[in-house]
Amino acid sequence: MADLLQRLRAVAAQARALDDTTSRPLETVIDEAVDACEVVVAGRRTLVFGSNNYFGLTRHPDVVAAAKSALDRFGSATTGSRIANGTLAMHRDLERELAEAFGRRAAVVFSTGYQGNLAVVGALCAAGDFVLLDADCHASLYDAARLSGATIVGFRHNAPDSLARQLGRLPAGGKNRLVIVEGLYSIHGDVAPLREIVRECRQADAYLMVDEAHSFGPYGDRGLGCAEAQGVSDAVDFVVGTFSKTLAGIGGFVVSDHPELDALHMLARPYLFTASGSPANIAGVRAALAIATGQRDLATRVWRAVHRLRAGLIAMGFRIGATASPIVPVTIGTLGRTLEVWHAVLDAGLYVNVVAPPACPADACLLRMSCSSSHTDAHVDRALEVLGGVGRELGIVPAR
Ligand SMILES: Cc1ncc(COP(=O)(O)O)c(C=O)c1O
Repeated sequence: MADLLQRLRAVAAQARALDDTTSRPLETVIDEAVDACEVVVAGRRTLVFGSNNYFGLTRHPDVVAAAKSALDRFGSATTGSRIANGTLAMHRDLERELAEAFGRRAAVVFSTGYQGNLAVVGALCAAGDFVLLDADCHASLYDAARLSGATIVGFRHNAPDSLARQLGRLPAGGKNRLVIVEGLYSIHGDVAPLREIVRECRQADAYLMVDEAHSFGPYGDRGLGCAEAQGVSDAVDFVVGTFSKTLAGIGGFVVSDHPELDALHMLARPYLFTASGSPANIAGVRAALAIATGQRDLATRVWRAVHRLRAGLIAMGFRIGATASPIVPVTIGTLGRTLEVWHAVLDAGLYVNVVAPPACPADACLLRMSCSSSHTDAHVDRALEVLGGVGRELGIVPAR
């Protein structure tokens, strides 16, 4: 007879293989946050190039002040779901402000971005419908599609021709198809060709949902994401996003012009059956939204860090992602080799993310770096110095 715990033992054994005695790539413990891009790990000040704090707003005085004030006025939590006692005026205000920012009819706010994706796809789609997913879509989008009961149809990453082929195979004449892509993809830092994707959706009468989780902030004139940057905002039926990156909080949202979206407040289970965002969090996100869409010099600073980091990595001989974006993947090799580099880099005071299979091929594991407007030239140069030193010592890049 199988033991239910056996599966967990196997996973624990795999995780142990990734650890060394001091630090764990899957759960690096941060003892203290010094500022938006420095933390303390194992007693050492560590420069962070592996967070999603794209505009450094977790430490912006307006965000912190708004959160503190809400904590004082409303207490630490709502202790209820949106349909019970968990709707404060500020939840409604944030929905209105998001809708206004995107120039859309309505917005709905969720307790996390993950739950937002489950809620939107689960409310729109059911058995008999088709969800067409880019192969590199985030786990929350796959889980959302699975949970909805719709038939999942994958298409090649960022390949409109593959999408067109898959759409062409569906039964003709239906309006029961939802295409889901991201603006900026979180592993390889590449951007969706949204104009071509919009064209294929229009041709096949499919709805389009774009997850702008990583692109909200750095992309577009007002920071609304890749659809804005590529001039196709009006053609996107549903834009979803998260508060856990540029907006420096926790939660998710959807915006849309379809009036039917209001029904999410009544039927989306991941919205109905969970507690709402805490007052301090929602107040902080409202402040962050105003800053992110209003102070566009923050985006300029992110891009400055991106270009400096990429130029330095290329000059030293690192293999990095082809697209200039705030996410900079550095290909190392096998998982063992990548972990060796990751540990050495952390020991030298730099935190980056590890990307392992299935998110990448087994022989092309990555160190994933991400840039923030809080990164100064000096921060970037320090990161390059650490990576260069480790890379040369371990033979990842040529000696000078
Ligand atoms: C593309 C994408 N969608 C959704 C999410 C989920 O966001 P949250 O952290 O708010 O649950 C993430 C988080 O990494 C993401 O990258």
